[in-house]
Amino acid sequence: MSDPIRFYYRGKQHHIIDASPTQTLLQYLREDLHCTGTKEGCAEGDCGACTVVIGELTQDPSKRDELQMKSVNACLQFLPTLDGKAVFTVEDLKTGNQLHPVQQAMVECHGSQCGFCTPGFVMSLWDLYLKQTDSDLPLQRKQIDEALSGNLCRCTGYRPIIDAAHKMCALPKQAKPVFNQANLKSILQSMQRSDSLAYTYQGQSFDAPRTLAELATLRAAKPTACLLAGATDVGLWVTKQLRDLGDIIYLGQVAELRQLSIDKYMLHIGASVSLDNAYRAVCQHYPQLNDLWQRFASLPIRHVGTLGGNVANGSPIGDSMPWLIALGAQVVLHSVHGERTLALENFYLAYKKKDLLPEEIVAAVKIPLPLPVALSTSQQIFCTYKLAKRFDQDISAVCAAFSAQLDGDQLSQVRIAFGGMAATPKRATNAEAAMENQSWNQTTLEAAMSALALDYAPLSDMRASAAYRMKTAQNLLRRFWLETRTDAPLPMNALDVFAANTLEGASA
Ligand code: FAD
Ligand code: FES
Ligand code: FES
Repeated sequence: MSDPIRFYYRGKQHHIIDASPTQTLLQYLREDLHCTGTKEGCAEGDCGACTVVIGELTQDPSKRDELQMKSVNACLQFLPTLDGKAVFTVEDLKTGNQLHPVQQAMVECHGSQCGFCTPGFVMSLWDLYLKQTDSDLPLQRKQIDEALSGNLCRCTGYRPIIDAAHKMCALPKQAKPVFNQANLKSILQSMQRSDSLAYTYQGQSFDAPRTLAELATLRAAKPTACLLAGATDVGLWVTKQLRDLGDIIYLGQVAELRQLSIDKYMLHIGASVSLDNAYRAVCQHYPQLNDLWQRFASLPIRHVGTLGGNVANGSPIGDSMPWLIALGAQVVLHSVHGERTLALENFYLAYKKKDLLPEEIVAAVKIPLPLPVALSTSQQIFCTYKLAKRFDQDISAVCAAFSAQLDGDQLSQVRIAFGGMAATPKRATNAEAAMENQSWNQTTLEAAMSALALDYAPLSDMRASAAYRMKTAQNLLRRFWLETRTDAPLPMNALDVFAANTLEGASA
């Protein structure tokens, strides 16, 4: 007998027993509940017209009862993944005839024309509004840009919407509607399951195990079932490729996979930790990753997509693998037979082929921490760069990461990895060899740039030509040198030369 899917929406619990496990929240809202405020634009997480806010009890089991609100794309959320959570849509915001300050600000700032994108913008702004404390005000432009990174508008233009973002927080505190967090928390607590969700519909199963042991047993019994984490890749297999996923095992409720911990040498990130939480933790140790974090997809995608999903999917143009490989990260695989740990670069065997047995899952990623300065005679130099056509919400044409120890001007432990240059995320072993135990000067740089041409034979595709990829990869290595060289101060015109080289590459 199937368990029902239960989630909270508009003042009541919804129990679902007769929906396909891959029916999206967006379809359910619009077609079953006829709540048509939430719109469908692209159905692939790109436009933000379907943005809603989800409330759930926190991911980290050590903080069990914290309420977390997050904007997500309803077009990529399969219904059973909402079990035990709360959903908020644009229909929730108005109180009687009174618009919410977010909506009122959009009206007053003329933030809407055709209105198709507006509910999505409003929900992204509401997520931002909920998270503001008095000390955050006035809002910084960067915070607004981040909140709106997943929303596109084809007609209004963004300036009035950004004005509305500033204005929505301007009301005096006593005039702001209060969101009753304590109430929602107790509703969600009352909905938590003690057992695992086992949902079946027309012969298709959706299992959401709660422990690693339970997951391993289930995986051994169903080695061909689709493993589902945040669905930011898998969701598109359904909405765009119309694939039938067969049986599904959901990883989002497994307590051990939601853990993030640190010891003396390593950061351990459970496979189901969201991209946003994972990057936040890593950036505390490697602030050089801040830019990449902000440019990884959009906030709603980072709220649900996982680091484990990025690594397991192993796309040659995925953004996390180059820096993970450059930092010497390891991947932990788990099955009923136990655990094994691999250097991440050895996990990728060929295009979409990994060293992963049918009964195994990716359980965690382990990332070495930088050595404390006092314990090291050398300093670590580390940079990562993403080249894509847009700042937000775009897949890389080339993604690069460089790491080395620098003792005076002597390089050692050089690790370079690229995405977008081969069929897998891959180390540049020839370029590394050209730099290892050398002085970090222009001669070494030029030898390494030439060696890079032996490391990769990139493809031409819709994102970039092979020539562009090779030229920019070499130029990113030059940029790494310009940003970390110790032999001379940065010449005034160095970045101009770099820009000119990059443009020359871009026209290739
Ligand atoms: P899912 O979609 O749930 O799963 C992905 C794959 O991994 C599936 O094959 C699944 O079976 C497998 N899998 C998941 N978890 C495990 C596990 N623990 N063990 C074994 N197998 C597992 N990616 C980038 O790198 N950079 C970007 O800028 C970027 N932008 C994007 C923008 C949009 C609009 C969208 C829709 C996607 C984007 N992506 C981007 C791709 C995607 O967000 C990432 O790959 C994400 O990390 C996938 O994680 P997930 O949890 O959603 O995985
Ligand atoms: Fe475009 Fe969901 S419909 S992001
Ligand atoms: Fe028309 Fe934004 S108001 S798409």
